[in-house]
Amino acid sequence: MKPEVKSPALLLVNIGQLLTLRSTVENPAPRRGHQLRELGIIEDAAVLSIGGKIVSVGRTKDALRDPWIKKNRKKITEIDCRSKVVLPGFVDSHTHPAFIQPRLVDFEKRISGATYEEIAEAGGGIRSSLDAVRKAPKKQLTGKILTALNEMAAQGTTTVEAKSGYGLTREGELKSLEAIRDAARQWPGTVVPTLLGAHVVPSEYKTCYPKYVEIVCKEMIPAAAKRKLAQFVDVFTERGAFSEEDTRNIFEAASQNGLDVRAHVCQLSETPLAELLRFDPASFDHMDHVKDDDIPLLAKHNTVATLVPGANYFLNTMGYPSARKLIDAGVPVALATDYNPGSSPTPSMPFVMSLACTHMKMTPEEAIVASTINGAWALRLQTRKGSIEPGKDADMAVFSISDFREIPYWFASNHCEMSILNGEVRRNG
Ligand code: NIG
Ligand code: FE
Repeated sequence: MKPEVKSPALLLVNIGQLLTLRSTVENPAPRRGHQLRELGIIEDAAVLSIGGKIVSVGRTKDALRDPWIKKNRKKITEIDCRSKVVLPGFVDSHTHPAFIQPRLVDFEKRISGATYEEIAEAGGGIRSSLDAVRKAPKKQLTGKILTALNEMAAQGTTTVEAKSGYGLTREGELKSLEAIRDAARQWPGTVVPTLLGAHVVPSEYKTCYPKYVEIVCKEMIPAAAKRKLAQFVDVFTERGAFSEEDTRNIFEAASQNGLDVRAHVCQLSETPLAELLRFDPASFDHMDHVKDDDIPLLAKHNTVATLVPGANYFLNTMGYPSARKLIDAGVPVALATDYNPGSSPTPSMPFVMSLACTHMKMTPEEAIVASTINGAWALRLQTRKGSIEPGKDADMAVFSISDFREIPYWFASNHCEMSILNGEVRRNG
């Protein structure tokens, strides 16, 4: 039974490879181990969506014989995919788009040999992005975020987690979250807002650092929750940023205010994860330096390990996160861009997937699962996003290639021809 066509109906036909990412288990959980290789491919496929929701998925010849489709064909927008590849829109589950300027001085300093931490200690890094964000009119910030969302969509991304984190005052963080909300309203895809008031301690609190943690817990979190400006609270848990104890306090405040949590951990040094896992974080991000003892523990939890190799590439770190070790031990893994002005200024999920395959030895199948359904789990959106199945949101990307492995293969080029965001079609290029 298909409903009356009241709202826009879209039929994709002649899809060469449709990567459905359909679930094959009864009690779905983030994908682990061999499940990270299951793409649920249908050849010569068709997808029907109505009003921004997927209604049916199958073979083109069956779709064209379907009596309901035959009867309503004039009301349906039909797209001939001419044997190309269609997959779920990417879920970029870790981005920092609320900034004003690129950090070109940091970029040049790193070219001359300085490290990310040395630059931060010398007054560059995250702190050097604060002034412009604090001074910027909200509209200007909204415009920057919207530009980034559009660039992401042009490369196949349809869902984006967007963090604040360059205001670092109550006003600056709330303004950033409002700008994220305003940009989201002008974009057809889905945006998940995250409060990252605990990005670094701003210099004005250098001598009274606990006071800043108190402001995050007692002012920023309650205000963001009350005004429904954030779904998650994030913390940069790292030497030079926030301790494990601060993170627990901030997570506690988030829970008390009804917000879910996630954290940047193990980017530059090891952080023990057992205590933080008690808060059931949706995701632990970066994960370059995970203690061996924590890996079996992570394998038992649904907290997703979100790897962001764009940051490793741009900071030219010694190595990349040990994706193989994590996957082979049963840890659910996602990939994200970490789009930000300091460590990863890329909006491109296909580039991140290419890095994951080349440098982290993930297979193309694993890179795709990590960029779609596991990204959805990392945002607790697994019932709506990340696969092409009836009932899910109509978020899809059409790539002008004939084999899905070409997505990570053609690095630094864009083969995404069309993005469909909640049923809205955007042709690229
Ligand atoms: O995820 N590590 C903390 N935050 C960002 C970097 C932000 C910046 O340098 O502006 C990251 O890499
Ligand atoms: Fe980040």
